Amino acid sequence: MRVLGVETSCDETGVALYDSERGLLADQLYSQVSMHAEFGGVVPELASRDHIRRTLPMIASVLAEAGIGPNEVDGIAYTAGPGLVGALLVGASVARSLALAWDVPAVGVHHMEGHLLAPMLADDPPEYPFVALLVSGGHTLLVNAHAHADYEILGESRDDAAGEAFDKAAKMLGLGYPGGPAIARLAENGTTDRFTFPRPMVDRPGLDFSFSGLKTYTLNCVQDLGEPNDQDRADVALAFQDAVVDTLTIKCRRALRETGSSRLVIAGGVSANTRLRQRLENMVHTERARLYVPALKLCTDNGAMIAYAGWQRLAAGERSGLDLTVRPRWPIDELARPPAAQA
Ligand code: KG4
Ligand code: ZN
Repeated sequence: MRVLGVETSCDETGVALYDSERGLLADQLYSQVSMHAEFGGVVPELASRDHIRRTLPMIASVLAEAGIGPNEVDGIAYTAGPGLVGALLVGASVARSLALAWDVPAVGVHHMEGHLLAPMLADDPPEYPFVALLVSGGHTLLVNAHAHADYEILGESRDDAAGEAFDKAAKMLGLGYPGGPAIARLAENGTTDRFTFPRPMVDRPGLDFSFSGLKTYTLNCVQDLGEPNDQDRADVALAFQDAVVDTLTIKCRRALRETGSSRLVIAGGVSANTRLRQRLENMVHTERARLYVPALKLCTDNGAMIAYAGWQRLAAGERSGLDLTVRPRWPIDELARPPAAQA
């Protein structure tokens, strides 16, 4: 079965073609980052307009790259939420219109389920059940994935998402958007142990996160430095990154112990962070567990994860009706199980 995936939930247009026999046939991404850069963050209306410009030409380009004609596509998956409503509606309208024209089924996919399933595209994918740390610009979630489409939220952020905290700290340090990669680069020149930032909520039981206190601490530190030089900024970046990475690592270890799971999956933009990957790799080693990470280009938003997650649901008999509904807010544990899984 060949499924076209369309991702337009935020500031990236992603289109990919997944073949259940042959794997990914093509995977293209257009990032709007430079367009939003001068505003210091994503401007929703500009994002929607740009998705309108890109989506159809990218679909044509993906099909051409894969050498596949429209009559050889068996289904279309699009991100139905969570995300920016206008941006979601662009992908949904294009995908649904094409599905109608090509007479193939369409299915709306949950963006975070896309991230969660991205490690399944690797050569050695995890088996269920597993614990997943989903860390993106909009979400920080610890999930117990019992089976496909059966997700239990173990913990989540009470305020900022981990990626959002990176983006805000980057702004304080005069770095551009997205802040995660910029902080990680700057931190490479940082001096260890000059600053120690708090590890939020690690001494309390439970698996929830909170990053707003760390954000305030970072702001105060930058203000205390007056006019920070390059070394000061690198030292702050390192201390901030270490605090986030430590917090995520401690909570992941706790989640593995509480669930008794020996598999940890990480996904979402922040999972591209090298330091986080290293720390988690060390932690799972001492816990006698295994870490599953998506390829770097599948950590951040992409069409491949939507094509893959959509294929799973289409193959299990799920179809979205003709009414065009998107869900800007959509908790992952409210996801319906596809018909085959319910039977
Ligand atoms: O998953 P994603 O591409 O989009 C959302 O669904 O939000 O995640 C984007 C987030 C941004 O906040 C970005 O700063 C962060 O992921 N990010 C990183 C890194 N690369 C991207 N954070 C830390 N280190 C990185 N290397
Ligand atoms: Zn995402």
